[in-house]
Amino acid sequence: MTAPRILCPKLRERIMTAKEAAALIPSGVNVGMSGFTGAGYPKAVPQALAEHIREHRDLGEKYRISVWTGASTAPELDGALAEVDGIEMRLPYQSDPVCRQKINEGRMEYVDIHLSHVAQHAWSGFFGKLDVAVIEVAGVTEDGRLIPSSSIGNNKTWIDQADRVILEVNHGQTSGLEGMHDIYYGTALPPRRKPIQMTAPDDRIGEKYLLCPPEKVIAVVETNSPDRNSRFSEPDENSQRIARHLLEFFEAEVKSNRLPKNLLPMQSGVGNIANAVLAGLNEGPFDNLTAYTEALQDGMLAMLKSGKLRMASATAFSLSPEAIRELTQNIDFYRERIVLRTQEISNHPEIIRRLGIIAMNGMIEADIYGNVNSTHIMGSRIMNGIGGSGDFARNGYISVFMTPSTAKDGAISSIVPMVSHVDHTEHDVQIVVTEQGLADLRGLAPRQRALKIIENCAHPDFKPKLLDYFERACSSGRGMHTPHLLGEALSWHQRFEETGQM
Ligand code: COA
Repeated sequence: MTAPRILCPKLRERIMTAKEAAALIPSGVNVGMSGFTGAGYPKAVPQALAEHIREHRDLGEKYRISVWTGASTAPELDGALAEVDGIEMRLPYQSDPVCRQKINEGRMEYVDIHLSHVAQHAWSGFFGKLDVAVIEVAGVTEDGRLIPSSSIGNNKTWIDQADRVILEVNHGQTSGLEGMHDIYYGTALPPRRKPIQMTAPDDRIGEKYLLCPPEKVIAVVETNSPDRNSRFSEPDENSQRIARHLLEFFEAEVKSNRLPKNLLPMQSGVGNIANAVLAGLNEGPFDNLTAYTEALQDGMLAMLKSGKLRMASATAFSLSPEAIRELTQNIDFYRERIVLRTQEISNHPEIIRRLGIIAMNGMIEADIYGNVNSTHIMGSRIMNGIGGSGDFARNGYISVFMTPSTAKDGAISSIVPMVSHVDHTEHDVQIVVTEQGLADLRGLAPRQRALKIIENCAHPDFKPKLLDYFERACSSGRGMHTPHLLGEALSWHQRFEETGQM
């Protein structure tokens, strides 16, 4: 272990092993865990708990808990607990392959909600009582305040709501994180809500530390492990083309005075397309940019370094091992330019609307009218979850959805007559981009939207079929506002399920 990280004598008394701490989590309870996009999640207690659950299961006993987090975690948490069938219910976002399989087999319940709604739903008790919080922190000050780790997510809410708190103090997180966070303690349920006093993405309105009464802490476990730290692949040709379309769009918006020269604060989903867009912006003509987003990924770190990005606000890091090294080695530089907030605030509709965020998110499919499916493959099988995409799409100043125009080696068109599941309605979707082109839907009525999306975004292999569908729907005499052929609208998905080809 490195220098002592637990300076509070009262909490030092509670130090124990992960196995001992895990044994304090009984079957049937609701557990709020830290963790967001593979950062700042507890690493030792969930694995010890999975082992504990396996032992009980081997004795023929049922042992399951419900797991609430900020967003996705990692194999050490979601993977380990799902593997032993230890999760009864999971919320609000996951991307773990084992969890995904169990959810889609109907062996785990999954409540997929907007990330900005989680805290208020928890306060209202919709998910039941929170029994235990298991929170990774980077250290504990002498007076018992908690130095948050590489993500904040719902940690403030879990600590407030839980009866008992287990802390993992991770020596593997750089101690230089101290001072980077901004924990706002002013949110409340209506009618006691007050305006959140933030008018710029770099405003600090809260505390640098998480506050937790020491008597709530039942265990402190020391760890020394890195976050998930997934590598991004180099942007492929499609991602680069999507990025180019988007950059051209931004340039045109600036020319027509609809965006300032340094754009507006950006929100960027994670993944390869998002990283390609950030790489494009890093080379592009815009300076003095800002970000107000959920997860700060490699592309944003590179932009902070180059100076293209003046500052970034997020609730979590989502970095590769190389980017973590860069962050750690230059933590003083980054601490001045990064603010990590609770996800209540990073995703708050009031702030997103006020700051005028440019929201850029990935999607699975869009239909010809601009409804977007971000979560379900062929309408039924969950991929990850809605995450914060709805918070940003509905409330942002510009809401962009991006995808390659085809999936599965061209067998699937990402532009379909009707989406098989709706996460973002046509009213929340302003810009659709594929490698084929960009459709600006602002100000257009449904039939105009359809022609624009088919013309600009569909793959040439599917364009004639989409046009044919649209024209036959228009001439069916069934209604001309949003024309559909009901018997055919989902037939593309049905055909894929039956033949492997849309
Ligand atoms: N039909 C069927 N499958 C499709 C598909 C479609 N139209 N489009 C993509 N897929 C499949 C891909 O083939 C791939 O499958 P595989 O895992 O078996 O290889 C998988 O879906 C993921 O696709 P990929 O192209 O790698 O997408 P991505 O990494 O860019 O992620 C989303 C796309 C939509 C899954 C992702 O952006 C997401 O989870 N979004 C919702 C949450 C969100 O927006 N968060 C942002 C932060 S607010």
